[in-house]
Amino acid sequence: AVIYRADYQPPAYWIDTVDLCFDLDPAKTRVLNKMKVRRNPQVAPQPLKLDGDELNLARVLVNGQGTSFKMEGDRLVLENLPEGDAPFDLEIFTTCAPAKNSKLMGLYTSNDSFFTQCEAEGFRRITYFLDRPDVMASYTVTLRADKQKYPVLLSNGNLVDQGDLDDGRHFAKWVDPHRKPSYLFALVAGQLVCREQKITSRSGNDHLLQVYVRAGDLDKTEHAMNSLIASVAWDEARFGLPLDLERFMIVATSDFNMGAMENKGLNIFNTKYVLASQATATDTDFMNIESVVGHEYFHNWSGNRVTCRDWFQLSLKEGLTVFRDQEFSQDLAGEASARAVKRIEDVRVLRTAQFPEDAGPMAHPVRPEQYLEINNFYTVTVYEKGAEVVRMQQTLVGREGFEKGLAQYFQRHDGQAVTCDDFAQAIADANPGSHLANNLEQFKRWYSQAGTPRVKATTRFENGTYEITLSQSCPPTPGQAAKEPFVIPVAWGLVGADGREVAGGMQVMTQATETIRVDGLASEPVPSLLRGFSAPVVLEWDATDAQLLALLEHDTDPFNRWEAAQRLGVRRMLDAIRGSGAITLDDAYLQAMRSILRHPKLDAAFKELVLTLPAETYVSEQLDEVDPQRVHAVRESLREQLASALAGDWAWAYEEHKENGAYRPDHVSAGRRALAGLALTHLCIAARSSGDTVWPGKAYQRFKDASNMTDRFNALSALVVSGHELSRPALDRFHGMFRGEALVLDKWFALQAGAPDRGGNVLPVVRSLMQHPDFNLRNPNRARSLIFSYCSANPGAFHRADAAGYVFWGDRVLELDGVNPQVAARLARAMDRWRKLAEPMRSAAREAIARVAAKPDLSNDVREVVTRALAD
Ligand code: ARG
Ligand code: ZN
Repeated sequence: AVIYRADYQPPAYWIDTVDLCFDLDPAKTRVLNKMKVRRNPQVAPQPLKLDGDELNLARVLVNGQGTSFKMEGDRLVLENLPEGDAPFDLEIFTTCAPAKNSKLMGLYTSNDSFFTQCEAEGFRRITYFLDRPDVMASYTVTLRADKQKYPVLLSNGNLVDQGDLDDGRHFAKWVDPHRKPSYLFALVAGQLVCREQKITSRSGNDHLLQVYVRAGDLDKTEHAMNSLIASVAWDEARFGLPLDLERFMIVATSDFNMGAMENKGLNIFNTKYVLASQATATDTDFMNIESVVGHEYFHNWSGNRVTCRDWFQLSLKEGLTVFRDQEFSQDLAGEASARAVKRIEDVRVLRTAQFPEDAGPMAHPVRPEQYLEINNFYTVTVYEKGAEVVRMQQTLVGREGFEKGLAQYFQRHDGQAVTCDDFAQAIADANPGSHLANNLEQFKRWYSQAGTPRVKATTRFENGTYEITLSQSCPPTPGQAAKEPFVIPVAWGLVGADGREVAGGMQVMTQATETIRVDGLASEPVPSLLRGFSAPVVLEWDATDAQLLALLEHDTDPFNRWEAAQRLGVRRMLDAIRGSGAITLDDAYLQAMRSILRHPKLDAAFKELVLTLPAETYVSEQLDEVDPQRVHAVRESLREQLASALAGDWAWAYEEHKENGAYRPDHVSAGRRALAGLALTHLCIAARSSGDTVWPGKAYQRFKDASNMTDRFNALSALVVSGHELSRPALDRFHGMFRGEALVLDKWFALQAGAPDRGGNVLPVVRSLMQHPDFNLRNPNRARSLIFSYCSANPGAFHRADAAGYVFWGDRVLELDGVNPQVAARLARAMDRWRKLAEPMRSAAREAIARVAAKPDLSNDVREVVTRALAD
């Protein structure tokens, strides 16, 4: 049944303490749960209804005595409980089957070890409980298991006792000193080894940091450990938030639905975000590890010390924590130019993933109003747009003001389960007189209204006065036909004819239309609007090429410099798509790209971003009707021209940036590798049209000789992307080299599934890779690497006129739904934008979605996605 935010009721009971005892066994694990429960005196007396899911119930005792109970669906209902508000003992004995748990929610096994995932509603798959975030308890956990098979036994908090039992079994007892909601519970048991590090924090406390992995992976944990050490130091230095535990553990598992999980003191991670060595991980992997380790660590305050009242408030912790991990990565990047690169990358994710979500059938506010399955709302809107909403609050109160606001928030709400309103209120209260405090109710529309606002800019120059008129609007979204104006901070500047900055400021829009006016100008300036992407909006500005070229050359704001190049590229792509399909790149554009590429002062990482053409999905969003194959063909054609016209410059760039000496995953050398990789790809593409064999040969050589995965993979990808015949032996060789490295094999699958389509060749490759001995649909990373890379990340190959891509998609959604509904529902979302498709794709897509929707016993996860996709 659909759950509504408006229906929130406080719990009728509190659970103060939980004492759990596990007898771990893959086939049948026994769970003894002893709780201290009391009535919530604020709520009218009523039965206790405990959540459960796929549990076998053996026994229920109240104050040590048997008691009557009944089942209401999955809930265990207790009606004859002691009267009054005094606490009573409730003991529940259940069993579950971790080895059969392919949903990877609750307690499951992976590679013969036990792991848990409880957020959002997985704890109810372990024991009966009030499985909601506003019920917080103190946990004591005893784990018992075979000592040989499971030498390491971990849970939240501190290890207080351990020892041997009969029959080769042993036990460990853990006590968590902090109260927590059930979604933060975790246990791990298995044959694991750890890297550990003792640290002393600024405040003088000692802590033990540990990273647990399988035995062969210890040499890939250094970067994760360094990232954790940096995270602890950063949160204390930037926000005054110390580590509140003696022991902080990270454990990696190769079977995981998402990226990672912030369980108190025992974070569980997808191996993808822990394991890295220069031989197996790319620079991007290294950066992602840093940011995900930071993210989960920062949840220790923003999420764990202060948590969500209910799941509609998810962005309270996720938006804030994404904002914090973005700031962390920017601070570690150091220099202003490297910070800007990180900002551009974050905005690119927002615009290519969140903007389409906000415009499609699954559009929802940052704080949703309803859901059928909460797992469907761990979205780019809740996470990334939520982070932008936090960032705007920082913009409106200033950096120092935001630090005061965050201190106020933690002081006021430590130990509580609160709402998004509570957060914004704390930031505003700490900053009286600020734009945020003055417009708080209006600002909070960012939490309640879905859709991406548009800000239209028109300009006028007369008698030395420059006027920029900004008008905001927001398109309708499902269930929200009309929108009220948002508070939109628009950072702006004016660039003079000589390239110098003549004026600038911050326009905090609150009205539908506002005007910025600057007097006393000698000549017409070029406006630089929405600097640093100061708000998550679409800026509609009809700039001339000359204006964009001026910004690309002179703007002091690196974000808008990059943005100018994007606009130049998008315009050319749109002209070709709407026109004959063919376009010859003009000299002005090519010359501008050349001078960026050859620029003596700009960072390589920034150049790589500027020289990368806008993504197909980003361009498609700007069309009313999309033919994905045409969009793909146009982008390929422009890329070929960029490759050929700048061939000499690409060759220069490659030679200039290809060697960095000893591998270090720092921003400067990573930027050089990225630019060298982009250059090599363009050189191989240019070789395809010229018939040259030198560059593909060099790419193959580089692929073989590279000292690190970034260079090796970039070279391999250059061969695959350019469709050169050497890609076959290279792919085979790559597989042979890394057959034992699961995360590298994921890259191997993904590269082939994401390759440019040539005459419909990708789908047959994907189909045959599904038969590969290394393919396994039950492993989420592997399923994503093959199936999602094709259906969600390769639009030119997926949207076939013969609908075979959609049939494949439907088959996989249904197949996955029987195994792991969460992963299936993510795949289902590949069709979100089907209504924009041109015929015959559109009708074929509707048919494919309808076929999935017609399956009788669909999970709630998939049902919600496909029903919303078909709703009008
Ligand atoms: N809280 C985790 C994070 O963002 C994500 C957990 C999501 N889990 C899920 N089953 N939806 O770090
Ligand atoms: Zn998170």
